[in-house]
Amino acid sequence: MNAEKIRKDFPILSKGVIYLDNACQTLRPVQVIDKINEYYNDYPVCGGRSYHKLSKRVDEEVTNARRIIQKFFNAKKVQEIIFTRNTTEGINLIANSLSLQEGDIVLISDKEHNSNLIPWQILNSKGIKHEIFEFGNIEDFKSKLNSSVKLVSTVQTSNLDGTSQPVEEMIKLAHANGSLVLLDGAQSAPHKPVDVQKLDVDFFSCSGHKMTGPSGTGILYGKYSLLEKLKPFLVGGDTVEETTYEKCKFLPPPEKFEAGLQNYAGIMGLGEAVKYLSKIGMKNIIAHEIELNKRITEKLGNHEKIEIIGGLNAEERGGIFSFNIKNMDPHEVAIILDNSANIAVRSGAHCCHSWFNKHNLKGSVRASLYCYNTEEDVDKFVEEIEKVLLLC
Ligand code: ALA
Repeated sequence: MNAEKIRKDFPILSKGVIYLDNACQTLRPVQVIDKINEYYNDYPVCGGRSYHKLSKRVDEEVTNARRIIQKFFNAKKVQEIIFTRNTTEGINLIANSLSLQEGDIVLISDKEHNSNLIPWQILNSKGIKHEIFEFGNIEDFKSKLNSSVKLVSTVQTSNLDGTSQPVEEMIKLAHANGSLVLLDGAQSAPHKPVDVQKLDVDFFSCSGHKMTGPSGTGILYGKYSLLEKLKPFLVGGDTVEETTYEKCKFLPPPEKFEAGLQNYAGIMGLGEAVKYLSKIGMKNIIAHEIELNKRITEKLGNHEKIEIIGGLNAEERGGIFSFNIKNMDPHEVAIILDNSANIAVRSGAHCCHSWFNKHNLKGSVRASLYCYNTEEDVDKFVEEIEKVLLLC
């Protein structure tokens, strides 16, 4: 994998920014930007409804994007791929569509993003409980599985420190218990190979904008037999075969879940993004990120004023280096990096307030890597952090 060559595809990188906020959103290559422009220039119309040529082209392009994504995740059927706005929407769809009943339990870890915590908290008012196991702790996970656990909804790779759970084993255990599994794949799908059939996962939600796709695009995968049984969450135009004043007949998946006029440019751009990543190869991306993360960790990991979240082993943290500097506010560190060297990182609780509250931490500074980052990027980051360390 040649990061220097890849960088040339990303117009913003020629403007001097050192972009290390990839766990939030990645940048977009020219191929994705061109695809979005192609839609607006050449066939900027609605799909799924009209019979004119422009509309048929939109349908073809949407189907093509869905096929690219089906192949990327090795889904059995193209109809198992639902377009959403983001990971959050996919999780909310399942939370609202699964027909959970009073007394049912949803099992989540103690390191979930707010997107995989709040939808379950909201269901508490209907008598549906959420229970917490320790992230990555299989014994704790096993001890929490019981006949009331109807769903395990958990993150594959944590956005706050980059560590991953042994999800294949967890899915086997959950299925043996009769529970379904929804994975939050927001931080796994952009960085490493995900094979939904091999995992045997029931539902998998991820975001396009974390994998070089357009902002506000997402994917929900679901096993077709389960999707067929789910009630749609948002309803309206293009979700139905027909209606009378009294009732309606829903279309099969995925249409019944894609209500209203869609983000066509976004969907096509997302297809192009997934094609782009497939060409680079997901195994190459994660290996590259780990190499860079090791380089940062070797230089900063043992400093007495630095505390890394997620441990010293960079291999276990993939492309994320999340840390605190003793006696410094994480936001202050991020602002210094931005102002002094145009280095973009994220600081704060990374939408995981519950975990930071439990650990009595205000947050962290998070540098997150991607395929276009280079040794020069991380060396500059280290150099600037070393300067900050002299200030405190
Ligand atoms: N979930 C995104 C992040 O961790 C927004 O930055």
